[in-house]
Amino acid sequence: MPSNVIVGLQWGDEGKGKITDLLAKNSDYVIRYQGGNNSGHSIHIKNRHFILHLVPSGVIYSGVKCIVGPGVVIDPKSLIQEIQNLESMEINTHQVFLAKRAHVTMPYHRLLDQYQEEALGDKSIGTTHKGIGPTYEDKIARIGIRVLDLLDLKIFYEKLKYNIDLKNKIFTKIFHREPISFQSIYEEYIEYAKILSNRIIDAVYEIHDAFHNKKKILFEGAQAMLLDINYGTYPYVTTSSTSTGGVCTGAGIPTNFLKNFIGITKAYCTRVGFGPFPTEIGNEICDIIRKKGNEYGATTKRPRRCGWLDLIALKYSCMINGINNLVITKLDVLSELEIIKICVKYKCDGEIIQYFPANIKKNVKGVYIDLPGWKQDISHIHEYKDLPKNCKKYIKFIEDYLNLETLLISVGSERNQNIIKNKSLFLKIFT
Ligand code: GDP
Ligand code: IMO
Ligand code: MG
Repeated sequence: MPSNVIVGLQWGDEGKGKITDLLAKNSDYVIRYQGGNNSGHSIHIKNRHFILHLVPSGVIYSGVKCIVGPGVVIDPKSLIQEIQNLESMEINTHQVFLAKRAHVTMPYHRLLDQYQEEALGDKSIGTTHKGIGPTYEDKIARIGIRVLDLLDLKIFYEKLKYNIDLKNKIFTKIFHREPISFQSIYEEYIEYAKILSNRIIDAVYEIHDAFHNKKKILFEGAQAMLLDINYGTYPYVTTSSTSTGGVCTGAGIPTNFLKNFIGITKAYCTRVGFGPFPTEIGNEICDIIRKKGNEYGATTKRPRRCGWLDLIALKYSCMINGINNLVITKLDVLSELEIIKICVKYKCDGEIIQYFPANIKKNVKGVYIDLPGWKQDISHIHEYKDLPKNCKKYIKFIEDYLNLETLLISVGSERNQNIIKNKSLFLKIFT
C-alpha cells in the first residue's frame, strides 16, 4: 500500500494538524519524521481543542499507531506533559511510540538556543527557544544523546558527562553564564526514561513491516518548505529537512514507499519569527486576517505576520516536494475582503523576476494581480459547486498557475469544515 505524505508549503501553520487528523481516520499509522516540539498542530473537534507538539496528529483515533520517528528531536519532558494532557482529555495514548534512534533535547539545548539568539542581536532568527537547532547541531557533530542511550545508564552517564563538561565551557567562557549541574539532569532524565520506556521501539523495522503488511501510512510533516534547512529562506529557517525528501531520511524508508504528496497551503501566507516575507501586508488588512484567522503561534503565542498568497514561493515549494495533491486551508478567512491580491512575480532591486531567489532578502517584494473578493461567509459550505463565483475564480487562478488540481479545501478550523473538491481522487487515496 503506497504511503501518503503531508507537508506544509509555506512558513508553517498551514493547518497540517487539522488535515492530518482528517486523513488519519483512514490510516493505520501516522508518523512524524522531523522537527521537534517547535511544532504546534491544532485540532478542533466540537468544543475540544488539542495542540500537538510531538505526538502525531493521528492520536485522536485510538486505532491509529502514532510514531515519533527517528528523524525527530524529542524533548522528553515536553512529550510526557503532552501525553498527560491528552490522557486528561480522555484521549487514549497507548498507541504512541517513539523511535530509538531519535535524538533527545536536553536542558542545555534550550539554554544554547536562547543564548545563541541573544548573541545574534538584531540578526536573531526568532526561534521557538525549544532547543531544536542545538539538538540537531549535536546530532551532526556526532555527540548527541539518542533515545536508546537513555536506556543504558552507563552510556547515558558517559555521554551526558562529556556534553555537560563541554557545554559548561561554552556557557561560562563564551556566553558568560552560569554552569549547569550534571547530577540533577542525569536523575531527571533517568526518570523520563522510566516513564517512556515501554513506548520506545525500533521504528525502522516497525514502519517497514507495516508497509509490507499493506498498512496505510501517513507521514506528517512539521514546519514547512520555506523553513527547510536546505531550500528555505536561509538562515531564517529551522534545522531539519521539512520537505518530502526528509521523509526518507527521517523515517528510514526508500523513496518508492511514497506515492501521494499532499501539500498544504493557506489561502494567504503567514510567518512567525524573522526573515524575508515578500508578500507581507503592512496595513490594517493584516489585522483583519490575523483576527479572523486567529493568527497567533500555537507554540509560542506570538502574533503571526500575515501576507498575500505568494504563487512564486508556492510553485517553488510544489516543485521541490513533488506535490501531486493540493490542499488549500483557511479560505474562509478571506471572506470579508473586497479585493484579494495574489503574487505572481517578484520585484528585486528594480528587476522583475519569476523565480524564488536563493539569496532572498528584504529587497524582494511581491508583484500582484487583484482578484475580486466574494464578501460572503463560506464556512458552512461542503460542496464545491456551492462556493461563490469569485471564490471559485480564486481557486482556479491558483490551480492554473501551479498546474495542479485541488484535492480539498478547508473553510474552518472544525474537523468537518471541509470541501472535498476531487471526490474520486480523495476516495482513491483514502479508502
Ligand atoms: P499547523 O502547524 O500546520 O498544524 O497549523 P496550526 O495548527 O499551527 O495553525 C493553523 C490554525 O488555523 C489552527 O488554529 C487551526 O485550528 C486553524 N485552521 C485550520 N484550518 C482552518 C480553516 O480552514 N479555517 C480557519 N478559520 N481556521 C483553520
Ligand atoms: P508547525 O509545525 C511556524 C519557525 C520559528 C523560527 C524558525 C526557527 O506548527 O508548522 P526553531 O525553533 O525551529 O529553530 O525556529 O522556524 N518555526 C515555525 N514556524 N510553524 C512551525 O511549526 C514552526 N517551527 C519553527 O518561528 O522562525
Ligand atoms: Mg503550527
